[in-house]
Amino acid sequence: MSETAKIELDGKVYELPVVVGTENEKAIDISKLRDLSGYVTLDTGYKNTGATKSAITFLDGEEGILHYRGYPIEQLAEKATFLEVAYLLIYGDLPKQSELDAFENSIKKHTLVHEDMKRFFEAYPAKAHPMGVLSSMISSLSTFYPESLDPNRSAEKKNLTVHRLIAKLPTLAAWSYKNSTSHPFMYPRNDYDYVKNFLYMMFAMPTEEYSVDPVIVSALNTLLILHADHEQNCSTSTVRIVGSSNANLYSTVSAGISALWGPLHGGANQEVIEMLEQIAADGGDVDKWVAKAKDKEDPFRLMGFGHRVYKNFDPRATIIKKACDDVLSKLGVNDPLLDIAKKLEKVALEDEYFKARNLYPNVDFYSGIIYKAIGIPTDMFTVMFALGRLPGWIAQWKEMTENKEPIGRPRQIYVGATNRNYVPISER
Ligand code: CMC
Repeated sequence: MSETAKIELDGKVYELPVVVGTENEKAIDISKLRDLSGYVTLDTGYKNTGATKSAITFLDGEEGILHYRGYPIEQLAEKATFLEVAYLLIYGDLPKQSELDAFENSIKKHTLVHEDMKRFFEAYPAKAHPMGVLSSMISSLSTFYPESLDPNRSAEKKNLTVHRLIAKLPTLAAWSYKNSTSHPFMYPRNDYDYVKNFLYMMFAMPTEEYSVDPVIVSALNTLLILHADHEQNCSTSTVRIVGSSNANLYSTVSAGISALWGPLHGGANQEVIEMLEQIAADGGDVDKWVAKAKDKEDPFRLMGFGHRVYKNFDPRATIIKKACDDVLSKLGVNDPLLDIAKKLEKVALEDEYFKARNLYPNVDFYSGIIYKAIGIPTDMFTVMFALGRLPGWIAQWKEMTENKEPIGRPRQIYVGATNRNYVPISER
């Protein structure tokens, strides 16, 4: 007999089913609770709420485990390419060579964006943050592909939109950077692989031969894989909620990009570097900044520390830390910010405040140092996160639509004023 949970409310006992996942995660299914008892559950920030059943990513925050479709992140980061991982997340299994070739070729066919879109860039102010530009541009794609407005029209059409998005995001991301530097846009090179093509569009100039150190291509491939999915985080939940209204996929992903931008989520990678620069400019006194982070009267937090689900260590941070050392030593970069980062990590990890709250460096703590070393400007860091996270958003959206999940619509407990009558303005 399957397990149930009993809940007693107003003297009545209700039995609720217990759901067990393939990794033995357990949940109480409260979906009928309101119909049965009139009660809803309250969980601000969804800290204890499973919003869906998903077969894409498994993570165990206590043990520091992260799997995509059952494959450990460590193996994928070491052995796979980003597009191979994208295929795995979106379609469920690692591709055979013929499947990967077909996937890559289809993506290469769609790397160009409509020429009219170039004109949109001209209207942005020079200092426009590339995340704002990117989210608008991705949403604008829907206006060029009206057939995408019904996201469920056919599996074939759905796939076309998915491939277009994967193909065009790097072009739009690189162009938003080129636009901010007033440099000419570089058209995609389909003879390059996905990562090299992105770096080419970011850094090549029409007047020069382009070459890139393979160490940089490989480091970026690893970083994108590490960011590719992370189950029901803020931007992914946004994607699932927006997509659940049957909004088109471009607008849905654009909403995910906006959610990612926030400094408590993907925007933290930019904030980490800015924090390290601030500490360096202030004389590099790490203890002073750790004390500030602990001071409840001070709004300062150690950016790149802490995580909603990882309470032991972030396995992505472990891989990135090593990649960071590798890249810096292979490229011969000596970054004083890395020394501050290492000191900060040591002091914080030994500090009772951080120990008691299980606050460890997260994925963003070291990623910014690698991005900086490979020449990515600071305000493009979160764009890099979006580039990596795209396959995860798509996979989660596809799963939700294929499972025919209902529109996302949480309840609330109303705590405002009770019924009162309108008072004319002259009498208030
Ligand atoms: N520095 C100092 N104190 C912290 C920090 C920090 N970075 N993070 C959490 N705390 C404290 C917090 O003040 C609270 O203390 P107390 O229990 O005394 O009130 C306790 O730790 C629990 O924090 P919380 O805010 O309730 O935890 P949360 O799960 O709601 O927030 C978090 C998680 C990631 C938003 C938070 O740790 C944070 O703001 N970190 C800095 C921003 C950051 O690095 N974000 C990137 C997350 S990883 C990339 C991604 O996947 O998005």
